[in-house]
Amino acid sequence: CGIVGYIGNAEAVPVLLNGLAKLEYRGYDSAGISVYHDGIYTIKAKGRLANLAEKIDKEDTLSSHMGIGHTRWATHGAPSDRNSHPHNSQSGKISVVHNGIIENYMEIKAFLQEKGYVFVSETDTEVVAQLFDYYYEGNPVETLSKVVRKVRGAYALAIMCIDHPDSLVAVRKDCPLLAGLSSDGNYVASDIPALLEYTRDYYLLDDNEIVFLTKEGVTLYDLDGNEIHKDVFRVTWDIDAAEKGGYDYFMMKEIMEQPEALRKTVFPRMTETRISFEDISLTEEEIKNFNRIHIVACGSAWHAGVVGRYVMEEVSRIPVEVDIASEFRYRNPILNQNDLCIIISQSGETADTLAALREAKKQGVKVLSIVNVVGSSIARESDDVLYTWAGPEIAVATTKGYTTQLSLLYLVSLYFAKVRGTVEEEHLNEYLQELRLLPQKTEEVLKLDTKMAELAKKYAQSEDVFIIGRGLDYAAAMESSLKLKEISYIHSEAYAAGELKHGTISLIEEGTLVIAIATQERLFEKLVSNAKEVKARGAKVIAIAVEGNLAMEEVADEVIYLPKSGDIFTSSYNVLPMQLFAYYTAVERGCDVDKPRNLAKSVTVE
Ligand code: G6P
Repeated sequence: CGIVGYIGNAEAVPVLLNGLAKLEYRGYDSAGISVYHDGIYTIKAKGRLANLAEKIDKEDTLSSHMGIGHTRWATHGAPSDRNSHPHNSQSGKISVVHNGIIENYMEIKAFLQEKGYVFVSETDTEVVAQLFDYYYEGNPVETLSKVVRKVRGAYALAIMCIDHPDSLVAVRKDCPLLAGLSSDGNYVASDIPALLEYTRDYYLLDDNEIVFLTKEGVTLYDLDGNEIHKDVFRVTWDIDAAEKGGYDYFMMKEIMEQPEALRKTVFPRMTETRISFEDISLTEEEIKNFNRIHIVACGSAWHAGVVGRYVMEEVSRIPVEVDIASEFRYRNPILNQNDLCIIISQSGETADTLAALREAKKQGVKVLSIVNVVGSSIARESDDVLYTWAGPEIAVATTKGYTTQLSLLYLVSLYFAKVRGTVEEEHLNEYLQELRLLPQKTEEVLKLDTKMAELAKKYAQSEDVFIIGRGLDYAAAMESSLKLKEISYIHSEAYAAGELKHGTISLIEEGTLVIAIATQERLFEKLVSNAKEVKARGAKVIAIAVEGNLAMEEVADEVIYLPKSGDIFTSSYNVLPMQLFAYYTAVERGCDVDKPRNLAKSVTVE
């Protein structure tokens, strides 16, 4: 979901629509705006933003200088015009846009129904509009703090009130929201790209800070009505960085940006013989005493964590557990004071991941996070943060976000290994030399572009695709399978190759596509045998192997070769042809590559 709010000298409607368009990548199934135009005027539409724009065009004039807008990803209530935001109070005096979930909305709804309030939607947001109306006594800031004290859950809210055509109020708790400042007016939005066209100056909001916007300025208050002062955050990255730059889809642009992103992420942290983590607060003493590491994340970031585990255990000999954030937070994890929690998140806003971070901190465990979005909630709440300098990632399916996460996991693992003395100087230098080659070799592997496009064409009509691997190649299989299914909608499963014979092999029929990832020297022969097993049952096999390992040629229908890199780094390369394969398969099948159905870039609800 996404929120935009504006008050100022310019026409509000284009600012809102423009901002919402920039938030499209977050995923949505309906959109709407409210503007002040002789009262509160609300228009909403199911489906794409174009539907909303069309409805607005039918209005004669909608001249206005303040308003709020929203793209919704359905949680409570199906996607429909009625359930779309903004939601207005029954009195018509209050209009609200909301991201997140109000957990106790049923309770509040019952309370308000008793007072005579009638509800028209199934949403938890309407409850906020009505509650605001109920508490309102003339001062929007005071009213909002009463609302905040009453509701439970995770939310970002922007609210307009008919009695105050010259101001907007907003607040966040556990959901992203920031305020943008300019001489032409002031803004709120879910993220910076939504507003970058208008301003580079922002207030990054903390939980429970109430924002009061007028066209002249932005004031922040705590829940007791005291004014809060904070520094303005100035964005230095370029607006062009968020545009497609000549590619058909953001996903391809982002795939091709990987070498550059890796350079920016890795090079400042290393020389030929040294890794530099001076900016983190973990002491050598703490690192030496680690009892266990818990890596926690969702989606592709979790897959990066699975790779991280293999690498970290291998080089630094610390036991590592990898958890899916939504499982971790509810399984009553056993944490020890000498443990470290590593949180991985591209957006830095994923609700489950943020909750896992808080759980770890609550139990007194230090949190090191690997995050792409500077100033995001996870970055701000962690004890230490390492940024992946991948730049804005717009395509829902992550590519450069994922590979830059891997690169930091290597660095952290090697750093811990050095401090703990589990790697010899000579080996460390070899690893570092290999790491320096990461951007250049990534560039080389991406030349498989045309080859993968051909293969995608050939296999685009597959119904099921099985992707197998062992160890690090299994982690790659999981990420590759996710890429393929999320954007091309082909059913796909990743299997630890050794597990095949325990069930899945019964699904292999004449012509079923099996992709065998076999990029680790010591497991190569095993994978050749697994490829033979499926081949014997009629499968078509595409193998991914390292240059010089020729044995797959005799088994597979196609072999893709990657440069040699030493076993621990193979995960950075084997996923690249699969990103390309997923991309071209989706294009071939006519899918909306950047915005796959039902998915959101940043999942800020549980
Ligand atoms: C969503 C995205 C995935 C992403 C996951 C975690 O589901 O579609 O691509 O891996 O969230 O996101 P994060 O921002 O925490 O890395």
